[in-house]
Amino acid sequence: MAKILKRERLVPNIHLLKVHAPKIAQKCKPGQFVIIMPDERGERIPLTVADWDKKEGSITTVVMVVGTSTHKLARLKSGDEVPVFVGPLGKPSEIEKFGTVICAGGCFGIGAIYPVARAMKEAGNRVITLIDVKANYLLYWEDKLREVSDEVYISARDSYYDCKNYIPKVLGEILKDKKRVDRVFSVGCTYLMYTCAEATRAYGIKTLVALNPIMVDGTGMCGACRVSVDGRTKFACVDGPEFDGHLVDWEELFSRRKTYFDDEIESLCYWERENFP
Ligand SMILES: Cc1cc2nc3c(=O)[nH]c(=O)nc-3n(C[C@H](O)[C@H](O)[C@H](O)COP(=O)(O)OP(=O)(O)OC[C@H]3O[C@@H](n4cnc5c(N)ncnc54)[C@H](O)[C@@H]3O)c2cc1C
Ligand code: FES
Repeated sequence: MAKILKRERLVPNIHLLKVHAPKIAQKCKPGQFVIIMPDERGERIPLTVADWDKKEGSITTVVMVVGTSTHKLARLKSGDEVPVFVGPLGKPSEIEKFGTVICAGGCFGIGAIYPVARAMKEAGNRVITLIDVKANYLLYWEDKLREVSDEVYISARDSYYDCKNYIPKVLGEILKDKKRVDRVFSVGCTYLMYTCAEATRAYGIKTLVALNPIMVDGTGMCGACRVSVDGRTKFACVDGPEFDGHLVDWEELFSRRKTYFDDEIESLCYWERENFP
């Protein structure tokens, strides 16, 4: 069992979840993830490590509420316990001095991108962070990201911030301005990662994307997280989750992510009926 140290709503659909997990906090690196099970009857779901504190022995994740498991996580209180919290899983991000690195994140990816941006900055890179939100009230962790970035661009559809263009378009404009960029890293919803990879393709800039296929065991045994990269089968949980976005079979990923769509909706309706009649 792992104890919840803190659960806080950051914006209407996104929560911070801090869990006591000293062994994971000692070992984890940027880009890795944990698997959590919200309760005994629940499923195992992956969450990216958004921060950690070795002294406190804590792992922080940022959870976007989309279906049954994430609704359950959003109702946890400090002192509650979850039956499964394992990690760190997946390969860490490749961190070295590349030159100028763009980190682009949206929804839960705003939190997930933080440790990568911080490590890239510490490695001596010039870090440009692009944040995408649907509306200004969905922005969180702006201060944390500004602390580890040389430049930050925020894009919201309601144009409250820098612009209202979708962030991959902003990425395209930066590249069009002939600004030298050595590496791009993107995390968030599949469409955001796909469009970031498309924006950099013509420029040949290596673009890493943190793929989010359905996962079950997270250890390479079940095959649920199968993705095709450069024509080869990979398991995102052990071979990734980061892959070269120019080599990912995006169509297959979009399609496989929809496999249980009807069951997911039914599961949420059932859970709501049972718990909030
Ligand atoms: C390696 C990895 C790291 C991840 N890191 C995080 C993280 O840090 N924070 C986080 O919130 N999520 C993260 N995810 C996604 C997260 O695991 C799923 O959102 C979660 O499993 C959904 O479970 P659920 O039961 O709440 O929703 P489900 O019942 O599984 O899905 C409900 C509905 O939401 C849709 N949906 C599911 N996931 C998403 C999504 N990410 N964006 C938009 N729609 C979605 C589904 O298509 C479905 O229609 C990560 C996934 C992977 C593979
Ligand atoms: S989640 Fe089972 S093989 Fe990756």
